[in-house]
Amino acid sequence: MSRKAASAIVDCLHRAAQLARSSSLNVVLSAGATPTRTYELLATEYRSKFDWSRVTLYQMDEYLDSSNPSQDFREYLISNVLTPLCIREAHLIDRKVIGDAEASWQASISRHERRLVADGGIALAVHGIGRNGHIGFNEPGAARSSTGRVVRLAPATRATAGPDISSSRGVTLGMATLLAARENLLLASGASKAEAVAEALDGPISSRLPASWLRSTPALTVIVDAPAAAMMKPNKQH
Ligand code: GLP
Repeated sequence: MSRKAASAIVDCLHRAAQLARSSSLNVVLSAGATPTRTYELLATEYRSKFDWSRVTLYQMDEYLDSSNPSQDFREYLISNVLTPLCIREAHLIDRKVIGDAEASWQASISRHERRLVADGGIALAVHGIGRNGHIGFNEPGAARSSTGRVVRLAPATRATAGPDISSSRGVTLGMATLLAARENLLLASGASKAEAVAEALDGPISSRLPASWLRSTPALTVIVDAPAAAMMKPNKQH
């Protein structure tokens, strides 16, 4: 699955590069556990398949006020993507700079999103999916038109982040910005994602399950492993 995902990322980037007006491509990557092996493959076997100096990375989401290292998506992106692929330009969300005040976080994510939109928007977004169907930290109920903001994390999201979770809030790019990506890639692995994957791909398109909105985008690629695909309609499993 990770090899297919790495190859799909390279294909999406080549397609996006053909359409791009500037030489640089804005890429937004999920920092969840699902794509870790994919990023490792990009940095090794797929390294020579794309000119990574063309990529500008924009962070998708981040936990607020957490001291747990597994809840530091900025650090994750630096060590799994930026450093190994030698990507020089990145716009990250830095807790140490932002501080504690919620108003500062709101201002910071709004600025981050505005810069991305002014810079031409997203060429490629690589998504994981939450067990409750969230993308980024757009939890169930997030409006299709939502923009970058501070969010309260759903209990299901907090539960998956481990017993020592200290953060109940996050920041995320909004649905409107993510769904405007010229290429969207959705990755899911494991049985715990099966229900969300089936609902996202076979259920109604609705804010009840934010990932379902991906089906309304012009270019969506979905790569799931067998356990994550187990509840999809049989004719879609291949
Ligand atoms: C996390 C993040 C998302 C990620 C999703 C799946 O909480 N907010 O950006 O895509 O949930 O994460 P994982 O791949 O670890 O299951």
